[in-house]
Amino acid sequence: MSSPLFTDVNVASAVTHDRFGDVGTLRLCERPEPPLAKGQVRITVHVAGLNPVDWQIVESESLAAAFGITVPSGFGNDFAGVIVERHPTVTRWRVGDRVFGGARGAAVATSLILNEHHGSLHRTPDRIDDLTAGVLDIAGRTASAVADALEIHSGDTVLVGAAAGGVGSILTQLLVHAGATVIGTGSVSSFEFIRSLGAESVEHGHDLERHVRSITSRPIVAAADLYGTETALTAVSLGVKPDQIVTIEAEHPPTGVHAVNGSDAHPHALERLTDLIIAGHVRVPIAAAYQLDHFAEAVAFQRGRHAHGKVAITMPGCEGSRSAS
Ligand SMILES: NC(=O)c1ccc[n+]([C@@H]2O[C@H](COP(=O)([O-])OP(=O)(O)OC[C@H]3O[C@@H](n4cnc5c(N)ncnc54)[C@H](OP(=O)(O)O)[C@@H]3O)[C@@H](O)[C@H]2O)c1
Repeated sequence: MSSPLFTDVNVASAVTHDRFGDVGTLRLCERPEPPLAKGQVRITVHVAGLNPVDWQIVESESLAAAFGITVPSGFGNDFAGVIVERHPTVTRWRVGDRVFGGARGAAVATSLILNEHHGSLHRTPDRIDDLTAGVLDIAGRTASAVADALEIHSGDTVLVGAAAGGVGSILTQLLVHAGATVIGTGSVSSFEFIRSLGAESVEHGHDLERHVRSITSRPIVAAADLYGTETALTAVSLGVKPDQIVTIEAEHPPTGVHAVNGSDAHPHALERLTDLIIAGHVRVPIAAAYQLDHFAEAVAFQRGRHAHGKVAITMPGCEGSRSAS
């Protein structure tokens, strides 16, 4: 794949798709940059973060429709970058402001145009780097929403299904910081990583209930299921009240279990999260960072569903590429 051209500031590179069904249709294209309309800002993207929903949208026209996405479309949601131009009517931002947030179906690109009051456009705190800010929007809001919904108290023991993933790695740390003992499910190869988040680790799979019972005799008071329904069903068997169980993925949660979405997050969830990151209470693990012209490898790695933390794409000229571990 050829490298994007950067000699012409009126041209941007963007990952796009013009049909649904297969991530193999994603292409890196060059496109002319339109002039700004009233109220708009132009953002040079430094980092874009991947989430399962990004490739799920490409694979499913009905899911895409639920988000108002039609083809041709850009790709991705999470981003961090800098404001490089503003329409004269814009009052909220100045050129040079560092920003991060979410732009559904648009973020994996060297340049973005958003309204100054876009719902997920935030100032990047000075002490937060772009690699961290650029992967926060969906996983950060979702982890915060789940942590709030669980309403745990210090000393509670909580079961977290898929603790090593993008959402799980942040949620686990939020719960540990709140004083909970967290038992996180994962593959054996994720155990060390889950422990590094402050949790105890237990293998997911059909023997989950037995595994949990073998590592603790304390009552589990709450559970978060971030992958299917296995953790939610196991939590019910372990005696957790269904209204103390949260799922973010199940289409049909077990009876009485709460379905929680990132959109349920507190309006200041990301600000609270960046405060915790700055204070050193939460870190955002980057499983791997890929350069833009290797975006397809990044998508394949995320889609494999065994990343430890977040998967990032860095734009040309931005430091921070790391390979998968
Ligand atoms: N409702 C919402 O608003 C919302 C928001 C964000 C995400 N989601 C959904 O929530 C899910 C998690 O998101 P994410 O960003 O954390 O995804 P992710 O980073 O891709 O999750 C990877 C995690 O899934 C675990 N996993 C893989 N196969 C598993 C299995 N068979 N059983 C149990 N766990 C398994 C992995 O564990 P090991 O590697 O240890 O096996 C790893 O910890 C996705 O389906 C996503 O679409 C929903």
